[in-house]
Amino acid sequence: MADTQTISIPKSVTLETVQSVKHWTNTLFELRVSRPPTLRFRSGEFVMIGLMVGEKPLLRAYSIASPSWDEALDFYSIKVEDGPLTSRLQHVEAGDAILLGKKPTGTLVLDALKPGKRLYLFSTGTGIAPFASLLRDPETYEKFEAVILTHTCRYATELAYGRHLTSSLHGDPLIGELVAGRFQYYPTVTREAFFCQGRITTLIETGQLFRDLGVDRFDPAIDRAMICGSLDMIKDTKDLLEQSGLTEGSNAAPGDFVVEKAFAS
Ligand code: A2P
Repeated sequence: MADTQTISIPKSVTLETVQSVKHWTNTLFELRVSRPPTLRFRSGEFVMIGLMVGEKPLLRAYSIASPSWDEALDFYSIKVEDGPLTSRLQHVEAGDAILLGKKPTGTLVLDALKPGKRLYLFSTGTGIAPFASLLRDPETYEKFEAVILTHTCRYATELAYGRHLTSSLHGDPLIGELVAGRFQYYPTVTREAFFCQGRITTLIETGQLFRDLGVDRFDPAIDRAMICGSLDMIKDTKDLLEQSGLTEGSNAAPGDFVVEKAFAS
C-alpha cells in the first residue's frame, strides 16, 4: 500500500481501515471497514468506496450491507477481472487503507415507501447488499408485518452470502424475536438445477412465487417492494409491479416500491 502520508486524499472521502475480508466464492467477496463516528446513513443507502491508484482516487458506489446501528461498515462485491476497481479491491487485506465517501445516499430506504403490511425485497447477484442492511434493522419489522427476500443468482454457490445472512437473522440478539414467523427467504437459481429454479420475473408471472410463499398476488393496498439488481431485472420486475397497480416512490414522494441498480465494476 502506498505511503498515505505523501498522498493527498480528496475532501469528499475519509481514509478508513479494512478490518476483515471474506471471500464467499471465486467471484464474490465481502469487506468490513472501519466507520468514522461522523458517518450517518439510513439502512439501505449506498456510499462511494475506493482506493488510491497512483496519486488518483478510484471510487465506485457500493451499497452498505450492514445496518445503520452497526459500529463498522460491510460491503459485498463482485470480482470483475478487468474491472478498474474490483480487480484491485479483491486483493485488499485486513489492515489496508480504503477510501470512504462522506455522503451516503439512496432510494432503497424505508422512508421512501408508503405504509404497508408486507415488504418484498427483490434482488439478483450483489443486489442483495442493501437488503442485508435493511433485514438487520429493527425498523423494518416495526413498519412491516411480513418481510420477503428473494435472491436470484445464476449458480447455487452464489447464494452462500444470502444463506448465511438469512440463517443468522433468527439468532440475532437485536432482531431475532422480531423476525420470528415474519420473514421468508426465497432463493432461486437460473443456470443449473435447483429446488427453486427460474428468474424472479418468470416466477411472478406464472404465480409460482405466490404459491410457494402461500400469499395472494400483489395487492397495492398492502404490498410494498424494493428492487435491486441489473438494469434489465429492475425494469422487468418494475413492469410487473406496475401492472399490479403499484407505483414507484422516492425520498421526496414515498410510493409503493423503490428501485436501485446493483453496483458493479
Ligand atoms: P439469467 O441466468 O437467466 O440471465 P447477472 O449476473 O447477469 O446480473 O444475473 C443475475 C441473475 O439475474 C441471473 O440469475 C439472471 O438470470 C437474472 N436476470 C438477469 N436479467 C434478468 C431480468 N431481466 N429479469 C429477471 N432476472 C434477470
